[in-house]
Amino acid sequence: PEGDYEKGKKVFKQRCAQCHVIDSLQTKTGPTLNGVVGRTSGTVAGFDYSPANKTKGVVWERQTLFEYLADPKKYIPGTKMVFAGLKKANERADLIKYIEVESAK
Ligand code: HEM
Repeated sequence: PEGDYEKGKKVFKQRCAQCHVIDSLQTKTGPTLNGVVGRTSGTVAGFDYSPANKTKGVVWERQTLFEYLADPKKYIPGTKMVFAGLKKANERADLIKYIEVESAK
C-alpha cells in the first residue's frame, strides 16, 4: 500500500535527518539522499563509503529501500550506517513515500 507522505516526513526528521539531507547535495555523516530513488548504491561522488556499501550493487527503489531499512546491517553486512532499522512496515512505507517525493526534487 502507498505510504503517507506527512507521516513519512516526521519519520525522516526524527530518524534520518541527523545524518542525511534529501533537499540538497550536502554530505553529513551519510551521503545525500537527493536523487536516491533510481540510483545504484554506493555511487554518490566523493562520499567515503564502506567497502560493503560501495560494492553492494543494488538500485535503490521502493522494494530495495523497504528491505534495507528494516535491518540495514542484515541487508548490507559491514555497512557503517549506525541505524538499527525500522521494524514497522507501515513506518517504512510512509518514509519511502516521503523519500520518493523529496528525493526527486
Ligand atoms: C547510507 C538511508 C539513517 C548514516 C545510507 C543509504 C541509504 C540510507 C539509502 C545508502 C546510500 C547509497 O548507497 O548511496 C537512510 C534512511 C535513514 C538513515 C532513510 C533513516 C531511516 C541514518 C542514520 C545515520 C546514517 C541515523 C547516522 C547515524 C549513513 C551512513 C551511510 C548511509 C554513514 C553510508 C554507509 C556505508 O558507507 O556503509 N543511508 N539512512 N543513516 N547512512 Fe543512512
